[in-house]
Amino acid sequence: MLDQIRQSLDSIAAKHRTRVLRAVEMRSDGRLLHDGRELLDLSSNDYLGLSQHPLLVKRSGEYLRRFGAGAGASRLITGTSAQHLAIEDKVAAFKRSEAALLFATGWQANAAVIPALAKAAKGTAIFADRLVHNSVHAGCRAAQAEVHFFDHNDYDHLHALLQDHREAPARLIITESVFSMDGDRADLPRLNTLAAQHDAMLYVDEAHATGVLGAGGAGLTADHPGAQIVMGTFSKALGGFGAYVACPQLVRDYLVNMCAGLIFTTAPPPAVLGAMDAALELVPGMDAERAHLAALGEQLRKGLQQLGYDTLDSTTQVIPLVVGPEAEAMALGEHLLDNGIAALPIRPPTVPKGTSRIRFALRSTLGAPDVEQVLAAVASWRKA
Ligand SMILES: Cc1ncc(COP(=O)(O)O)c(C=O)c1O
Repeated sequence: MLDQIRQSLDSIAAKHRTRVLRAVEMRSDGRLLHDGRELLDLSSNDYLGLSQHPLLVKRSGEYLRRFGAGAGASRLITGTSAQHLAIEDKVAAFKRSEAALLFATGWQANAAVIPALAKAAKGTAIFADRLVHNSVHAGCRAAQAEVHFFDHNDYDHLHALLQDHREAPARLIITESVFSMDGDRADLPRLNTLAAQHDAMLYVDEAHATGVLGAGGAGLTADHPGAQIVMGTFSKALGGFGAYVACPQLVRDYLVNMCAGLIFTTAPPPAVLGAMDAALELVPGMDAERAHLAALGEQLRKGLQQLGYDTLDSTTQVIPLVVGPEAEAMALGEHLLDNGIAALPIRPPTVPKGTSRIRFALRSTLGAPDVEQVLAAVASWRKA
């Protein structure tokens, strides 16, 4: 087997797709330390800078000291504490849902909840946007269901697929509200209408919208309610770790009984819950930070477009600079590093072939001069 593993790695290297792990240290001011160098950080998803916020650090420490380092068991054994239930109530209030359920990570939530939902009705048809995250693909693969991918944000295509499969016993539509690699948005009003028309359940992954968009930072589903299942993470704008599904009580009860990724895994530990608690307290009051982040996004997008680059349909804090070939994206990433900027290249299979890019992820702790620095570095690459 080791021979095949080596061959597999060789073939990844031949396509210039080798990935390596780098050690970095996050700083509180939108910078990070890498190899002894301080770099401007435009790669992390810590959109509000909460990972270093004193309240998250303090409450996480308090929970750790009061309740210990681990949860000790899965939720259905002895792993459910009063703190888990309290956070779930707070998530439900934040998302205006009837109930919520915590998961270890966002990846695990999507990979586990989708097959569990599909199990409720044999022959469920799933309709997912082609650009959904790897974890949704994993969930779809694990589901014993027919899976149909519609072209990205193409709701005529989705409508046609729903028509073609109207005989299926149940239908589940899956999208992200903000797409992780393109930074564009789903049209939730249109999806709500389609779901209602075709008697489908709508599942929205709000990983990149939670904390950043929607009233009080509660995501785009807060402004356009209708989705029955809303998944979100604590690992991005909420600065910590873990994920949730906000849903009707009926669905929560069902998942507690049927979702293997909840039942057969240890419950999230106290320190993680402490950070969640603090983030849920802070985020609704961070409108000024959200407005600043939106302004930084406008500045960067406009600047990149003026330099002649394609930023796709981004309207958020995630801004792709598409260069196309993988080698070119790698070269631009290196050039940015040389200019003190960590904005790492994203290549296939994470994004479609021929759309390798730098994915800029902005953060409210950055300022307009930081964005100017990025634009100057990009401009000098063209000239190099
Ligand atoms: C859209 C989307 N969903 C889910 C996840 C997984 O979240 P987590 O990092 O908490 O596992 C990510 C993050 O990588 C994501 O971008």
